Amino acid sequence: MPQIEVKLKDRAYPVIIGGGQIKHLAAFLKKHAPDSRVFVFYDARFYALHRPTVKRALKLPRARLFELALPPGEKTKSLTHAKKIYDILLGEKITRSDFILACGGGVICDLVGYVAATLLRGIPWATVPTTLLAMVDAAIGGKTGVNHGRGKNLIGAFWQPKFVLCDPRFLNTLPPRQMVCGLGEIVKYAGLTGYKILPQLKKYLEKSDFYNERMLTRMIESNVAYKAGLVAEDERDEGKRRFLNFGHTFAHAIENAAGYGRLLHGEAVILGVATAVEAGILRKPESERYFKEYSALINDMMNLAPRRRLELDKIMTAMAWDKKRNTQRARFVLLSRLGKPFITDDLDKNIVKKALSKMLSKYQTGGGQYA
Ligand SMILES: NC(=O)c1ccc[n+]([C@@H]2O[C@H](COP(=O)([O-])OP(=O)(O)OC[C@H]3O[C@@H](n4cnc5c(N)ncnc54)[C@H](O)[C@@H]3O)[C@@H](O)[C@H]2O)c1
Ligand SMILES: [Zn+2]
Repeated sequence: MPQIEVKLKDRAYPVIIGGGQIKHLAAFLKKHAPDSRVFVFYDARFYALHRPTVKRALKLPRARLFELALPPGEKTKSLTHAKKIYDILLGEKITRSDFILACGGGVICDLVGYVAATLLRGIPWATVPTTLLAMVDAAIGGKTGVNHGRGKNLIGAFWQPKFVLCDPRFLNTLPPRQMVCGLGEIVKYAGLTGYKILPQLKKYLEKSDFYNERMLTRMIESNVAYKAGLVAEDERDEGKRRFLNFGHTFAHAIENAAGYGRLLHGEAVILGVATAVEAGILRKPESERYFKEYSALINDMMNLAPRRRLELDKIMTAMAWDKKRNTQRARFVLLSRLGKPFITDDLDKNIVKKALSKMLSKYQTGGGQYA
């Protein structure tokens, strides 16, 4: 079966990727939780659509299986929900020889992973990511956490799963806007990896079939392979793993400036990546020739994000509050050419402003498909 390994010495684990691969769930559970109880937490929307498939694949007797559906949405990623889960699990007298399974998008992976990391100082867990964004990003790498009133992901822990099982067939029910969110992270990876993911993404978009299983599987594999490499080198996000923030300093400010929830995270990432490329070119105009193909692809992708009123000044103000700011200045990941990221906290304010306004002028003439 197709798998990619996250090579973390004694904590190495496989990411299984492929249509129909959910059928191997029981075998993985047997390996990691041969006699234990398995506590499965689902995103409620996913549960309503796919629970029978997962239940069949679990192959567990009733006495060893506990299932609970959690409300969908970012608000669920909170200490309030973590506590509810702690209460339930402690009520069930969970021990460290039991096992936790998260089935859902990034929200469920982050929340349930955080509970697994912290309860009894760590319970073994695994994830079945069910959104494109979670398959290529959130479920890989063991970053778990919840939000705080003061900001996103402020409370968290590193806790690697025992396996990750990505079955792209689950994506058949994912709404188009959520697919676009995953594509936002994929276009980020395309810039970071150079000519590996770019041609795959281009072909996929040309085909205009968001749900093409074969193409999705290949793209997910390439993205996971790249992220797994970064995580293996820099598990705790102190070096190269930070490349994954490419486009994100801008994206967070754009998300804020649009107004809470008006642009989804992955949609803002498309605009953030567009701005980061512009900023790199403004900094070194001679590098423009390296970005022709990539810029054209990003421009097309901006049309997939709904058109929202975005004001340059508002975005600039929001930048100062970015949580990745280093003292007074924001930290940026830019590309010197395709596939060559670097980190800088020294980007001229005028360049930031110009890059944003270039991005905005392109965005404002397109967009709106799934609004
Ligand atoms: N830990 C990390 O490294 C990491 C990385 C990136 C993002 N994240 C986090 O991930 C979260 C976003 O994740 P997301 O984009 O997956 O959002 P999400 O978990 O909110 O899911 C999006 C929507 O899709 C629905 N859904 C899930 N699976 C479905 C399916 N198969 N069919 C139909 N509907 C389905 C959900 O009910 C929800 O409404 C954010 O909180 C972000 O901070 C974490
Ligand atoms: Zn992101």
